[in-house]
Amino acid sequence: MNVFNSYIISTSIFLLFAQEICSNTFHYTLSYRDDPSTTISIGWSGDDGVVYYGTTDYGSNYSSYPNSHATDRMLTHKGQNRRFSRLTGLQPNTVYYFVIHDISGATSQRFKFHTLSITPNTPVSFISGGDSRDGFSLLGVYIENCPSGDCRQKRKDGNAIVAKIRPDFIAFNGDFVQNQITSDISQEWNNWLDDWQLTISSDGKMYPLVLTQGNHEDNSDMYNLFDIPMDEYYTLDIHNGLIRFYSLNSEIGACNSTQLNWLTNDFSNYTNTAIEPNWKIVQHHNPTYAMANYGLNQDQMNCWIDEFQTHGVNLVLESHSHTTKWSWPCTKNSSGDGFEKDTVNGIVYIGEGQWGAPHRDLDFTGNDQKSWIRDQGVFDGFFFIRTSKDTIQINNVKFENAASISLISDDVLGSYLPSGTTNWNPTNGSTIYITSTATEISEQFKIATKIYPNPSKSIIHIEFNKVLENNTLELYNSLGKLCSKESISGVNKHQLNIEKLCNGVNYILLKDDKGNIESHKIIKAE
Ligand SMILES: [Fe+2]
Repeated sequence: MNVFNSYIISTSIFLLFAQEICSNTFHYTLSYRDDPSTTISIGWSGDDGVVYYGTTDYGSNYSSYPNSHATDRMLTHKGQNRRFSRLTGLQPNTVYYFVIHDISGATSQRFKFHTLSITPNTPVSFISGGDSRDGFSLLGVYIENCPSGDCRQKRKDGNAIVAKIRPDFIAFNGDFVQNQITSDISQEWNNWLDDWQLTISSDGKMYPLVLTQGNHEDNSDMYNLFDIPMDEYYTLDIHNGLIRFYSLNSEIGACNSTQLNWLTNDFSNYTNTAIEPNWKIVQHHNPTYAMANYGLNQDQMNCWIDEFQTHGVNLVLESHSHTTKWSWPCTKNSSGDGFEKDTVNGIVYIGEGQWGAPHRDLDFTGNDQKSWIRDQGVFDGFFFIRTSKDTIQINNVKFENAASISLISDDVLGSYLPSGTTNWNPTNGSTIYITSTATEISEQFKIATKIYPNPSKSIIHIEFNKVLENNTLELYNSLGKLCSKESISGVNKHQLNIEKLCNGVNYILLKDDKGNIESHKIIKAE
């Protein structure tokens, strides 16, 4: 080896090392705060920087990527110096590669993510779980029931398994950290974000979060640390009508009239109408009937369950009690103080938050086990849920043997569990299937014949196929929140002003007096 080559190699090694030690960004996260097929929010801690991204992998050569986006938000919350870059205008069902090039000139490793589809025929897979807080410790000794004396290690094990499974997104049902006055909150969140990096696959693949609030945090924590919507409850459209995913807030109470009115309005728009999704899935933190510590939540039973049943909810994701259960399909009993098995019209409830949190004892065992509970147990794990048009398939993955799980290497939406996972295999079987006669999502009547320009910054023109009588036009943002409502009668065209809307995806719902509903996606341009 001549001196020149030796110089190049040693310089290259130095530069690699220098880049490594000078990388001033860390604690990377992805989250949805808008349409999951065309937008994403990239979060990190540390220095300010610019996200460089595109659909071709240029590794860490940031200047080769065709797109760039600066930070949209910078803040410090709970001791974390968070930055967020909100990417919009992405292509659906597409793998994007990105790096963060920071103000000191360092570039992060190359990451990638996969936007969701706009086709209900495309399956989607997601992980559901919650309660990842550490146990109380006194002078370094845990005083709660943490397996092997260390709850945090179990949280890390679960995160490492996420990286192997490669879900399309993660529904986290609340309770991240202890976050109480006896704890160092900054250190707890720092540890949580440290551990979350284990969810990133070895090829840099990252997985977006869909979050709901638990009792150990408030919505400002999630908004400021993850950039999810500040709204305390919201809905996401997954794969253009495959799943309407409701993220409810159990902490403000199920009978909170504002949330309840919003929920019932959204349910009625998407039930027995042309825009009904294949599946309705709800997540919230506090169970309607907890298997440990808390028992019946009467407010939820009174205010939510009838609405869930009337409007065809298929699956409810819960957390909070630090146990594991899945129910038979069940409905509210006649006295309203519990459920009863109902395999025809019932809803499946799964939970209840075992992403490492201290273990608790089941309250209803042996002859006292609830008749609507299919199986229950106490161990660390989360649910893996694969959803296609005609089937929801549910497994529970135990936090065991992460190192021996094989890595799925492709980027196909709706993948299966990799081999080597340790699935919960209780008395009544290791897999739940929820099936339905899938309906074709199609617009059955076409009142609106032209919508233009779309995208638009201000005015959108809508032309109808006839002179309308007694129709209403409602405008919703991508999270299912009503933005405006107006009557349309005696005209065959309409001008809609969208200047005050947030950028991104919004929906118009056109309703006639016979209960027919037509939905169209409109995009507010930046
Ligand atoms: Fe909780």
